[in-house]
Amino acid sequence: MQIFLDTAVFEEIEEAVSLGLIDGVTTNPSLIAQAGKSLEQEIPRICELVKGPVSAEVLATEYEAMVLEAQKLAALHEHVIVKVPLTEAGLRTVVKLRPQGVRFNVTLCFSVSQALLAAKAGATYISPFVGRWDDIDRPGLDMVADLVTVYQNYGFDTQILVASVRSPLHVSQAAILGADVVTLPLKVLKQMIKHPLTDLGLARFLEDARRAEQA
Ligand code: E4P
Repeated sequence: MQIFLDTAVFEEIEEAVSLGLIDGVTTNPSLIAQAGKSLEQEIPRICELVKGPVSAEVLATEYEAMVLEAQKLAALHEHVIVKVPLTEAGLRTVVKLRPQGVRFNVTLCFSVSQALLAAKAGATYISPFVGRWDDIDRPGLDMVADLVTVYQNYGFDTQILVASVRSPLHVSQAAILGADVVTLPLKVLKQMIKHPLTDLGLARFLEDARRAEQA
């Protein structure tokens, strides 16, 4: 399973890349706004650092404007994956530009039928938002399980990129279900590393070694 970092904060990306465990990055307009930078400034340098797929999201909502914006974003760097919302304009944009080699992450997916259309349009990635489903009292990972089944049923090569990840449990469950990618905040990546029994076991080993040296 690939792991993408879900942030536009350059320092966080540097830290995660230095771990050697990150395959790509996703951004969205909220994350770009939080980072206080423009997309045009940040995306090329993030692409250079990550050396993998970097999602950059359009702001246009109308088809013609979205096509133009998608072309501009794709031209920023060869690693750019253009992120479009799962709307009629978004799907049309994928259908129009996919044959020209533009790669898309279709985002804000909340149903299997939406995901089916994104795959038929030719999306490279589909982003089901598990945390936001959980927020409205529905298990977000149920949607991922259904997506895995449906994409396998028909042999779609669109990759399932689990988004809106809030915890290590989301990650491990997505992996058990066979999702292709998860995108997560740096905080969740760090939570995945930690386990209290690892800390306890390590402390005991070191204490035993110290005692043996003193004996
Ligand atoms: C990434 O592609 C999504 O935009 C992001 O994971 C959404 O996360 P949130 O629901 O925590 O804002």
